[in-house]
Amino acid sequence: MAGRSWRWRLLWGLAASLLVTGVGAVVQDAAVLVDTEGHLHINTTGTGTKVFVNGRDVELEMGQTRSLLEALYPTLYTPALYVLGGADLNDTVGDMLRLDAGTWTNLTSAVLLPRRASFGAVVFRNRIFTVGGRQFRPSPPYDVVASYNPVGWREEHPLPIARHSIGLTVFQDLLYVTGGANGSVLAMVDFFDGLSWQPGPSLLQARFGAAAVVYQDRLYVIGGYSNMGLNTVEVYNGTGSWAWAPALQVPRAFAGAQVFHGSVYVVGGVADGVYLSSMEVFDGATWSFGEPLPMPRGRMGLVVFQGLLVAIGGFNGQAAFPNVTTFDGLEWREQQPLPVPRSSTSCVVYPAA
Ligand SMILES: *[C@@H]1O[C@H](CO)[C@@H](O)[C@H](O)[C@H]1NC(C)=O
Ligand SMILES: *[C@@H]1O[C@H](CO)[C@@H](O)[C@H](O)[C@H]1NC(C)=O
Ligand SMILES: *[C@@H]1O[C@H](CO)[C@@H](O)[C@H](O)[C@H]1NC(C)=O
Ligand SMILES: *[C@@H]1O[C@H](CO)[C@@H](O)[C@H](O)[C@H]1NC(C)=O
Ligand SMILES: *[C@@H]1O[C@H](CO)[C@@H](O)[C@H](O)[C@H]1NC(C)=O
Ligand SMILES: *[C@@H]1O[C@H](CO)[C@@H](O)[C@H](O)[C@H]1NC(C)=O
Repeated sequence: MAGRSWRWRLLWGLAASLLVTGVGAVVQDAAVLVDTEGHLHINTTGTGTKVFVNGRDVELEMGQTRSLLEALYPTLYTPALYVLGGADLNDTVGDMLRLDAGTWTNLTSAVLLPRRASFGAVVFRNRIFTVGGRQFRPSPPYDVVASYNPVGWREEHPLPIARHSIGLTVFQDLLYVTGGANGSVLAMVDFFDGLSWQPGPSLLQARFGAAAVVYQDRLYVIGGYSNMGLNTVEVYNGTGSWAWAPALQVPRAFAGAQVFHGSVYVVGGVADGVYLSSMEVFDGATWSFGEPLPMPRGRMGLVVFQGLLVAIGGFNGQAAFPNVTTFDGLEWREQQPLPVPRSSTSCVVYPAA
């Protein structure tokens, strides 16, 4: 597995660079192509073939080039924080922003198509998958599934039913879509195995804006909205059906959820029009309140990055904001904000550490 992902990254590293420099032509006795998977193929009948990347001679000794490529292209190997799409103060955006070494980069050649808010994003099999969503202003949802690696975007099989405000997780090496809304509130669950979408067991309760997280090899779906804010939690172990898990202490939809320091952290959210600053922590048996956020906030991105829980952007009922706030297990700290306000976004750390 490690070998496979290594080779994979090596290939897309080279492919990206060759694409950037516009190489791709057939050289004497050699063919260079990038296939639909983003893999670079070099066929040659000659001996002593050399590969030049951005004018530098890369000695293409498979198995010995990783350290060289790491030095040339650190962003291919170093996990960075990505903020995808969402809404600014007034409209839907398709931006893809990357934070590495303290600097936000706007990946202008990698905008999200269609531009979307209230979609899901997660890293699945070495690509960033984006699923569903809709425009910020109420509009029909999308069935779009698109995946990204540094070579570019690729369209995947669309969802069987368009929806927004889904839960999106990778569970037992499958991509799971839980709940969501399409005009109706949905209990449906679908999973993608890399080839096709198949139905999974429906949730016990229809819900959208629920948080979803994998913890102790179980998939949890937490809170959300039906016709009111929910505090209920459901759990699935990969076979059979969903079961009730201990309920949150307060109802919350559009909260963030991540596994951090061995527990599930559920941060902020909104219930019945009131935005929340509170945080709840689940240890597998009970929920307890943790250190609250400095301000009420829902519809934000939440990731674990460089050993910290990071809340990115969000909405408080009045406006979207750019705040980036980190939690180290003891206290929340305000960090350098996003260059722009952003809510209903999805954030991932990629490549996965
Ligand atoms: C490269 O080699 C493979 C295997 O022989 C072949 O299928 C493929 O068509 C070749 N590609 C080019 C561009 O020549
Ligand atoms: C917000 O967007 C709407 C629709 O696109 C537009 O009519 C309006 O002028 C915008 N308001 C501001 C403050 O930009
Ligand atoms: C990023 O680039 C896109 C495309 O040029 C642009 O529309 C967008 O406003 C930029 N976003 C930020 C945050 O600068
Ligand atoms: C929403 O999804 C349900 C399936 O659960 C489907 O029956 C219904 O037609 C969909 N509604 C719209 C407006 O697409
Ligand atoms: C998974 O949950 C089902 C109930 O839906 C139960 O019958 C089964 O024993 C559980 N499996 C494991 C391994 O816990
Ligand atoms: C949110 O960010 C703004 C702009 O950076 C800052 O003025 C404000 O203090 C931050 N909010 C909190 C609660 O720290």
